[in-house]
Amino acid sequence: MEELLASPERCAGILQNRLVANMFFEASTRTNQSFQAAANRLGAKILVFHPQSGSGAKGESFSDTMRMVDGYSDAVIVRHPCEGAARLAADVCEHPVINAGDGGNQHPTQAFIDLYTVRKLKGKVGGVKVVLFGDLAHARSMHSLLYGLSMFKAKITLCSPPGLGMAEWMVEEARRKFGAKVAIEKKPDLSSADVLYTCRVQKERFGSPREADAAQAAFRVSKKLLEGANEELAILHPLPKVDEIDAEVDSDPRARYFEQAKNGVPVRMAALAMCMRGFGREGKGGRRVPGFSCKNQSCISGIEKAHWGWAEGAGLRVRCRYCERPAG
Ligand code: MLT
Repeated sequence: MEELLASPERCAGILQNRLVANMFFEASTRTNQSFQAAANRLGAKILVFHPQSGSGAKGESFSDTMRMVDGYSDAVIVRHPCEGAARLAADVCEHPVINAGDGGNQHPTQAFIDLYTVRKLKGKVGGVKVVLFGDLAHARSMHSLLYGLSMFKAKITLCSPPGLGMAEWMVEEARRKFGAKVAIEKKPDLSSADVLYTCRVQKERFGSPREADAAQAAFRVSKKLLEGANEELAILHPLPKVDEIDAEVDSDPRARYFEQAKNGVPVRMAALAMCMRGFGREGKGGRRVPGFSCKNQSCISGIEKAHWGWAEGAGLRVRCRYCERPAG
């Protein structure tokens, strides 16, 4: 797709006359804009949505809104503050649904961008030493990247201030499913790291702003942190950055986050083209577990009363169909 961008006419034929619904129920700059840019480059038209003037304001359920917009378009991109919202949308829509971020759960297309950027910069993902640094508890981009890096056999170190660690079940799953090599450290050792991946404290997912500010004060990518760091280190960030990276780091040649953001367009073009040209319709998989009720307060299943438990295979733990959090 990146090469195709040099031939606008060829690009524009790929999804000509197709319609993409861009359903953002939560703030976004890059994801929203880059999906729009990607769809436009491919020749598709965009159905724009403004949640404040939608029927949700009159009390319409999320699944009704999704079902309806599915009837207007050929694919639905959805961002929502609740975990599992994209999965619920996929269950009620006939057309492909792309998760553009569901609460503090997952952000898969961001992980595609991150993996693509690592591969472009380092020539590979397997064996590359990546430090995930910061709010690993709430940052969906970190969660998706953990899985992505694990699938491609990177060497992963998790490093976070107290209370902001990655959920144990996610680490356990990455190890079990993908044989991931995951180390957990108190301080990042950047002398041999190939990639430092950080992100802002996800303030909107905290109980109180004061708690979030205290968490933010506990880590920072500064010139001091970079003393002794690998000269070939790549510093990545999904953006927006707030206080977690000193402004002077922007001019360090190792800071590659704006280049990373630019990769969002070709990567999302690929995601749209693959979904809309017939690839990637995921099977429902797993076994339905009756009587399941998700305990995650941030999960869409509570609001939409769509409880469905799901067991992936013999002997595996039961988890929520939507936010995928294991029971118990
Ligand atoms: C996201 O939507 O998760 C962004 O890409 C990262 C952030 O909001 O910090």
